Amino acid sequence: MQINGKMIHGVSSWKPPTSTYEALAAAVQENITPQNDDSVKFGMDGATSGGDGSIIHTYCPDEGYPPLLEALKTKLQTENGLHNPHVMVTSGANQAFVNCVLTLLDENDEQGNISKCVVFEPYYFNHVMAVQSVRGGQGCGGTAATLDAKNVEGLLVGPTSQGIPDLNWLRTQLEQNKYKEGGNAIRMITLVNPGNPTGVSLPYSFLKQITELTKEYGVWLVMDNTYEHFDIDKMNTIPSSSDIDEQQRPDYPCFDEEHVINIFSFSKGYAMAGFRVGYIALSSKNGSNGRGTKAYEEMLKVQDTIAICTSRLSQMAALGALQAGREWVYDQVKTLDVGREAILDAISSLDETIGGNGAMYVMGKLPDGTGDKEFASSLIEHYGVAVIPGSFCGLPGWIRVCYSNLPPDKCKVAAARLKKGIDELTMPSPSSQEEPLSDDKLINLAKDFIQYKNAAGKGDSSLDSVFAMCSSSVDLYGLKGEEVRPGFISFFEKHEGLHHDFIDEPSIVSSNVVQYPFTKQWRVDGEDKVWKSIDTSKPRDKVERLYFDDKGKLQKVTVVEKDAPL
Ligand SMILES: Cc1ncc(COP(=O)(O)O)c(C=O)c1O
Repeated sequence: MQINGKMIHGVSSWKPPTSTYEALAAAVQENITPQNDDSVKFGMDGATSGGDGSIIHTYCPDEGYPPLLEALKTKLQTENGLHNPHVMVTSGANQAFVNCVLTLLDENDEQGNISKCVVFEPYYFNHVMAVQSVRGGQGCGGTAATLDAKNVEGLLVGPTSQGIPDLNWLRTQLEQNKYKEGGNAIRMITLVNPGNPTGVSLPYSFLKQITELTKEYGVWLVMDNTYEHFDIDKMNTIPSSSDIDEQQRPDYPCFDEEHVINIFSFSKGYAMAGFRVGYIALSSKNGSNGRGTKAYEEMLKVQDTIAICTSRLSQMAALGALQAGREWVYDQVKTLDVGREAILDAISSLDETIGGNGAMYVMGKLPDGTGDKEFASSLIEHYGVAVIPGSFCGLPGWIRVCYSNLPPDKCKVAAARLKKGIDELTMPSPSSQEEPLSDDKLINLAKDFIQYKNAAGKGDSSLDSVFAMCSSSVDLYGLKGEEVRPGFISFFEKHEGLHHDFIDEPSIVSSNVVQYPFTKQWRVDGEDKVWKSIDTSKPRDKVERLYFDDKGKLQKVTVVEKDAPL
């Protein structure tokens, strides 16, 4: 997803460990001068010696490059406490999630119903888009391809408090969706920890509870652990009261249960986003009868259909990266402290904030009435700093700020810009506490607006004087933010010689709101056109209505029924 042409995924400010490139270089070198030409024959078996599985131009097994799979199994055991899981390497954690959606969600479950999926608000937008893309109607293939999670068939959006999902709500949903005959219309619960966009790390006790709750109802729990290395305050830690020996406690414990699917990524901790490597771990408990094994076998079909296998070269690079180890990643994550503090300070004037103890994000609530999309656009345009609007994650009126994209010094500069932007764009300006505009001033502003448009229509001037009248959050005939300028210019291009006249003098209808009936004339292919906002033959009784702020900047322009509510 992009905003103003920029990718909006959080990225890490460091580079992958040197061992990544050493592994790459060695693999490439070996393929330029193969030791053993027979290796080509063995491309699919993935063997590491003899047949030389390091050849890079062929497919490797669907589930992954065998040496990497082995290394991941060791990592999953020691760092996550998952014993001998089925592992599948994917093109990033995003593909891993799509694999889960395609494997677990049915159009028709055993009762003939669409199987349901739960996400919590604010959600990671790609999770919603993944479910949206496999559903009809409001899905990506339908006509209303917007990111509105509430309109995606079979997607339940659960509430959170301070970034922590509401387990009471979840229990109620699980109860209501339970089939008498056994089973549940809810098939999978999705959780991101540490959270994107929340920036909140969920405590171990919470993770244990949701694992038990989902087990009780027999539904899948899909855990997206993309930010496993970014649990800043070590919230996900096995308590000291546990009987697991301290030395044996995994750094970032995951639950070794048949119904839990764990997703991981090389994109953030190892900063390998462009290599596109993630992986899924499914439980192998109960052997071929186990839920994890069965799902894994189904998932292999999805994998073979989408990617066949993740790029062999990228998997080799990931194997190299793993050699640097968890401590290397922690050293990099530590460098985020400075930027995080600066960003937390920058958003501290907002009434509510969440996050800062996990992943690479914090969120802040804008003052009531401030549009998050318009705010984000203005920040880019006027302050040169990007945040994403909470609307993209189901939380309008909020923004998500990523503090890991830049090294500490640059992040401090970005934080200063953000602070300035927040101060100037959200604080009531001194003049807004002053008197509303006088009637004369309002009427003159309306006349200016018409006059500037007419001058532009005649070709005497550009539309810049019109734009200069607009506030940064103007809604100009439904055009907002970055759409305003190109949308308005294109309208004028299509309406050659556009000219407006008042049918009646402007009248004041409320504080800072003025309206008037009008005619407009223009030409299309040499033919003159006229449109009147009052036309008794239609019947039509409309006006153009202008809303100003106290500084005299246009906030909204719209054509409405004369008596439309304000
Ligand atoms: C929660 C979450 N999952 C998955 C991803 C994508 O990870 P990958 O690059 O491994 O596909 C992101 C990236 O921002 C993320 O925030």
